[in-house]
Formats: sequence, C-alpha cells, structure tokens
Amino acid sequence: MADVDRLKALAAERALEFISNGMVVGLGTGSTAKHLIRLLGERVRGGFRVLGVPTSIATEKMAREAGIPLTTLAEHAELDLVIDGADEVDPARNLLKGGGGALVREKIVAAAARSRVIIVDETKLVDVLGRRFALPVEVIPFAVPTATAAIARLGGRAELRLTSGSGNAFVSDNGNPILDCRFGDITDPARLERDVTLIPGVVDCGLFVGFDPIVVVAAHSGTRIIR
Ligand code: A5P
Repeated sequence: MADVDRLKALAAERALEFISNGMVVGLGTGSTAKHLIRLLGERVRGGFRVLGVPTSIATEKMAREAGIPLTTLAEHAELDLVIDGADEVDPARNLLKGGGGALVREKIVAAAARSRVIIVDETKLVDVLGRRFALPVEVIPFAVPTATAAIARLGGRAELRLTSGSGNAFVSDNGNPILDCRFGDITDPARLERDVTLIPGVVDCGLFVGFDPIVVVAAHSGTRIIR
C-alpha cells in the first residue's frame, strides 16, 4: 500500500468507532471511503448490523461486493451518520469536495445525516480552501456556457472536466457535466457557495459549509480527531 493510501486506511479504521450496531450510515465516495467500505464489510461479515446509503454508483457497487446491506433515502430520509472523504478541510472544518464527481449526492446525504465524520490524511488540511483544488460545480448540460460566463463574473475560471483517457466530458451519476472552477483563495466559502449555487442551471458545488463535521485526520504519528 502506498504511503498516503496507508494513512487513508488508518483514518477509515478510526472512523469505525463512530458506527454503532443498527445504525443507518451514509457511505462516502473516493479512495478514502473505499477503505471504510472494505473495513465495514469485514465487520458486517462478523455479525455487525448496519444499513448503508451509498453516495455514488461506484460506492453502491463496492458496498454490495463487501456485503454491506443497503437502503435508500426513500426508506430512510434521515440517517444516523455519514462517513466521507474530502479534498480540502479548512481550520473552521469547511470542506471542499467533489474531486471524484459525487458532490451532489454527497451533500444530499450529508444534509440528511444527524452527524458527519470526515476521514482524511493530513495532506488534506489547508489554511484556506481553493488554493490547491479547483471548486467542482455540477451543472445541467444546457447551462454549461451560461454558467461558465456567470462563474467568470464571480471571479472564477471554469474548465469543463474531462474523463482521463478518452478526453470526453465527464458525466456525473446524475447525468451532468462538472465545471472545475479556479477562484484562488476562497476566503468566504459560505458566500461563494451561495453565489455559485444561485447561478441558474447549477445543481450544486463542492463547498460544504457549516456542516460541523467530526474530522478524523491520519498522520504518520497516528490519528487524531478534530471537532
Ligand atoms: C468525491 O466526489 C469526493 O468528494 C471525495 O470525497 C473526495 O474527492 C475525497 O476523495 P479521496 O478520498 O479519493 O481523496
């Protein structure tokens, strides 16, 4: 396992302590959440009872393979907990997410959960959001040109996300393209989230503000919890 992957696995393992028997748990998306699903699957095979709500088609497939029983928001509109990764976490525990393109479902599940646990390796902790990662913005296909122009008016530079390899436009699980938007330092994430999501045709963006997550950080020296 590569070094950073080992840290991701460590964060996922520590997060298991937040899951109690019988909980309905949102299952995040990405390379860190992948470890959580694997480890939770092992627990389920050992007799642990849990119901998962996947935040993406990829996670749904992985969870099925791991033997985790799944449910839907139609059956459980309120969840006990969600555990997910993030691309960046700022000192106020605001998040930038969506590197894997699952931000819309991730935010819906995060909002439906009574508590949220974010699992990251220490490289994800940043002073300010947006310096390293572009902000993913999911838009309906019809709105790509107008949303690109509106993002420019907000001071951002939008680039249509392409799938690596084919060069075709990336398509989310919801059938939409994603604009990766460079705003430089995002000093007021709440304001930018509001401004971006008010653009007609924008489904949502990868800023997760005010969710008050518990953050599990894995470092070489061990894991720590920030809340
Ligand atoms: C998926 O759309 C994202 O929000 C992920 O949660 C985020 O990109 C973290 O991914 P990794 O765990 O792969 O770094």
